[in-house]
Amino acid sequence: MAETLPGLLDKMWKDYVLINPMAQKIHDLLVSTDGNELHNDHIALRTFNHPRVSIDVLAKPFIKSGYTYKGDYHFPEKKLYAKHYEHSDETQPKIFISELKLEEFSQALRDKVHSLIAQIPAGSEEKFDFVSMGRPWMATIPEYNALLKESDYAAWVLAFGYRPNHFTVFINRMKNFSDIHILNDFLKGNGFKLNASGGEVKGTKEVFLEQSSTLANNIEVKFDDGTLTIPACYYEFAKRYPLPDGRLYQGFVAASADKIFESTSKGQ
Ligand code: NI
Repeated sequence: MAETLPGLLDKMWKDYVLINPMAQKIHDLLVSTDGNELHNDHIALRTFNHPRVSIDVLAKPFIKSGYTYKGDYHFPEKKLYAKHYEHSDETQPKIFISELKLEEFSQALRDKVHSLIAQIPAGSEEKFDFVSMGRPWMATIPEYNALLKESDYAAWVLAFGYRPNHFTVFINRMKNFSDIHILNDFLKGNGFKLNASGGEVKGTKEVFLEQSSTLANNIEVKFDDGTLTIPACYYEFAKRYPLPDGRLYQGFVAASADKIFESTSKGQ
């Protein structure tokens, strides 16, 4: 694959809809209803704060492609840290990368994650498309269940590896859905389930960002010792509001993202 940003974003989208066919359905429904090409507000990636696969490592292909670091976020309850990156061409999606803070988990979880990372072929993490390579380690059902006891997020990364956790439709650039509530009602009317944790719409005009998301669809995932039906990816929707200086707010709201992380919870 050519080492270009459009090539990488295209590969990430194709991989995302392959395991998340619901996103393709919603995408096609919105394109046909809106009569407009959809634009992505951001793409979210997940990882561990280990030096081989940390946020800074995953950010490299984006930095190379003209992105710069713009802000960071703390999620104390979920034991996560995240950074977001923006491209100089603001029509490009923002990249939001979070990492699990391993030092805040049990020795057993840390040992497991270290053993996973040790299986990543040397130098793989330096490849331009590492963020889209999928699961670079062996994973078993008991391992998934063991990680799930401590963190939904850790179990998700074990099962899916490196690939987008979600894409996000940028509502501002739609023609017929300027209101997130109307978009939500339209999606529900078409049979899609939304994440209601903390209310369907996270954030308000006052924090300059409103977001909603579907619940992750359950898919059958092949582990090295069998298959398990588990939550995969979700699709997100974001509407941004102008700051007092007139520029559209480009950051994220930790309190809202905190609830959106729960879109891949098994209990949902
Ligand atoms: Ni998001």
